[in-house]
Amino acid sequence: MNQQTTSMSPENASGRLLNFHIFRYDPQQKGDKPRTEVYQLRETPGMTIFIALNQIRQQQDPSLQFDFVCRAGICGSCAMVINGLPTLACRTLTSKFKQGDITLMPLPGFELIGDLSVDTGKFMRELAERLKLWLHPHHHEIDVHSIEAPMAPEQAAALYELERCVECGVCVSACATKQMRETFVGAVGMMKIARFELDSRDGRTAEDFYHVIGNQDGVFGCMTLLGCQDNCPKDLPHMQQIAYLRRKMAATIL
Ligand code: SF4
Ligand code: FES
Repeated sequence: MNQQTTSMSPENASGRLLNFHIFRYDPQQKGDKPRTEVYQLRETPGMTIFIALNQIRQQQDPSLQFDFVCRAGICGSCAMVINGLPTLACRTLTSKFKQGDITLMPLPGFELIGDLSVDTGKFMRELAERLKLWLHPHHHEIDVHSIEAPMAPEQAAALYELERCVECGVCVSACATKQMRETFVGAVGMMKIARFELDSRDGRTAEDFYHVIGNQDGVFGCMTLLGCQDNCPKDLPHMQQIAYLRRKMAATIL
């Protein structure tokens, strides 16, 4: 891999100099080769990786590709591998890296769009189709005059907890099982199955879910490596939910 350096030191700057080692490769560009480019930037108070990337793109290299929408840890778009760990760029302060050297790589396990940008949307769409991740109501006829289906507050709160996933893809990249076996559903898929299994409005039975995740690509393939739970930026309880589903699926075949 080649390595190139671009530096820029703004006038009157007083922060320390940061070195960003950034993966560069545009698969759309014929002849382009994967390489690392190094950019230097003065640190400012409260600087996040997202802020730094924007400054690099504005001041040094407009061709740099990365994703963002909300800048607040809500949309899940800015996930990337920062110094070896997958996480959100907009929630990561540069001050965390005492040496001042920061390596940025795209999330593994997703189709690369270019540089730090990957297609998590395509992955999530295909996952939704494969696992049928939508509400399957008990009755297919819709009565527009019926009152809303009541739900116990405890169940609504539990559903809300599982709905907090922002589909950032961090748990997919952090899972060694998923990286070794492409067909493995991964934590995000199992969290979503757990969400519909919990929903009293969903008419699917344990047997129905067993046909989807009751195998080595589902709950029985998880090796409890904890990469998903350790790195999820929303602190979702993956292990608890996967263990619950595994018990439920095992009971189905007994
Ligand atoms: S479960 Fe967590 S890490 Fe995985 S996609 Fe959702 S928010 Fe991201
Ligand atoms: S930009 Fe939306 S989560 Fe980082």
